[in-house]
Amino acid sequence: MGQIFVTRIVPGRAVAMLQSAGHDVDVWPGDLPPPRDALVEHLAGASAALTMVTDRLDNDLLAAASSLRIAANMAVGYDNVDPGGAAALGIWLTNTPGVLAETTADFAFALLLAAARQVALSDRETRAGGWRTWSPTGYLGVDAFGATLGIIGLGEIGQAMARRARGFSMRVLYTSRSPKPAVAEQLGVKWASLDELLRDSDFVSIHTPLNAQTQAMLGKREFALMKQTAILVNTARGKVIDQDALVEALRSGVIGGAALDVTDPEPLPVSHPLFSFPNVVITPHIGSASSATRAKMAEMAATNIIAVLSGGEPPNAVNRPSTPQ
Ligand code: DGY
Repeated sequence: MGQIFVTRIVPGRAVAMLQSAGHDVDVWPGDLPPPRDALVEHLAGASAALTMVTDRLDNDLLAAASSLRIAANMAVGYDNVDPGGAAALGIWLTNTPGVLAETTADFAFALLLAAARQVALSDRETRAGGWRTWSPTGYLGVDAFGATLGIIGLGEIGQAMARRARGFSMRVLYTSRSPKPAVAEQLGVKWASLDELLRDSDFVSIHTPLNAQTQAMLGKREFALMKQTAILVNTARGKVIDQDALVEALRSGVIGGAALDVTDPEPLPVSHPLFSFPNVVITPHIGSASSATRAKMAEMAATNIIAVLSGGEPPNAVNRPSTPQ
């Protein structure tokens, strides 16, 4: 039976599942991710790892983990690992698609509304004693109802976002690598080029994975195309945005505001200029953070590990090892 390193304390039944399948489970007890030397140490001799987006599993680190057969990421994103590099080392990489789409879309919509209606700012100021009276001109926001939402990336989370937008009578545009006419028709959303979407949208919500094509896909040129009142929502990955260009766009009033659950780096230092804008909402990468969803993500990762350690193929593979160990 295998030795499994779980890089954080995880909710739900995942650890019990691994133990019931007869494996030895080593759970990192810290609140913070294991530092690189601890990862190396705990992966030496491990046949599987249940990992997080905060674990950078570079190829040197994976090469040193000579018994490792699977890295099961507890996330839908896997930009913390090079799938091809892992495959070349004989290591499966898996993710957790599907289970977090609705929860993440809930949060993206919450961020959209929070930025549109100044929820976080007015809460902060109210707590600080700033509520002097009802004001006809205080905290004026913009309406989500009836506005145009531009969705970048119509995967599971983007689609779930579009369904929510329908309830707010929003017109929804989407852009993706290739048009998805069947899904779009069912959702009542319309394809647009990235430039058209940026020009036409009141809200722009990012739902694309981070990869070589999407890194810094929104920068100075793209912000200049957006409406001056537009609000940018990012629950995907911080690096999809050129963050310095975003700071400049906010400083000069090129766009109306931003709601960011992901930044570059994470955590964002409290001295970062993004924290100085009243029209920016920042949360600590919690899009998928409901108790039920995080438990399902950990259990899905455990299922992938159990499949590989019992000689099968994992249900959620994102690579295919050339020579499985
Ligand atoms: C993911 O799943 O990729 C999220 O960013 C972590 O919840």
